[in-house]
Amino acid sequence: MVEPDQPSTARMIDFWLGGEHHFPVDVAGARAFEQAYGPCAPVFRALRAFLGRAVRAMTRDGVDSFLVFGAGVPTMGNVHEVAPEATVLYTDVDPVTLRLGQRILAGSDRAGYGYGDATDIGTIDPAQLHRFVPGWGRRPVGVVFLGLAAFLDDDTLARTLDELYQATAPGSLLAVDFDTEELAGHPAALAMMGPAFRMRTPAAFAPLLGRWTPTGDGIVPVDRWRPDGPPEQVPDAFHGAVAVRSAD
Ligand SMILES: C[S@@+](CC[C@H](N)C(=O)[O-])C[C@H]1O[C@@H](n2cnc3c(N)ncnc32)[C@H](O)[C@@H]1O
Repeated sequence: MVEPDQPSTARMIDFWLGGEHHFPVDVAGARAFEQAYGPCAPVFRALRAFLGRAVRAMTRDGVDSFLVFGAGVPTMGNVHEVAPEATVLYTDVDPVTLRLGQRILAGSDRAGYGYGDATDIGTIDPAQLHRFVPGWGRRPVGVVFLGLAAFLDDDTLARTLDELYQATAPGSLLAVDFDTEELAGHPAALAMMGPAFRMRTPAAFAPLLGRWTPTGDGIVPVDRWRPDGPPEQVPDAFHGAVAVRSAD
């Protein structure tokens, strides 16, 4: 596989989680970021653990297929691993991460990986969508939208979430997170995230959910969302929620 010349946040996360699907350029990017911010592994372990608890909660509510946006590397406690009975379509726009994901999932008949721009769900291959998310638009599904809001401005995020609401059937569930203002205290690390990076307060994020209604757990630091036990002490970098697509 041709090595990329730019790091990707998704593959840096794989490095921090102890995965094996990243390149030297990603390790260099991860180390440079940690120089500017501090240790990142605990923060991303907490975020991945939130994904696990959210996905398991969705399966308990009857969801048996998932569409994942901005999926990154599909390992290290990702959706098909915590919900092995479900079918899962991972999507991303990064061609290198996409090929890595396809390689990781080669041979799986329950999980696939394809191109998908979250801001335009028409970019997803309909055949893949209907294979891995059967009944899309007609029966409840799980939508996973993690690590992505930070890269979309408010108008785009609100429109994207509303389009997802319209496209999904009532009873569908959305797992979503956003970056807090944690990096404001670390200007060099913030600069590394580039000009499009968005930090938000809970009050600024909540209206962007539009018609999606958070469960009674609310929008909380990810380690506080239905914790399995005492949460690991981590910086307050990500807040998340599971939200419900109610009937029209
Ligand atoms: C911070 S990473 C998060 C990866 C993964 N969700 C995780 O938690 O490990 C963000 C990912 O979003 C992808 N991405 C950025 N803009 C996107 C868009 N408009 N549609 C789909 N994916 C996008 C990037 O390529 C990258 O893989």
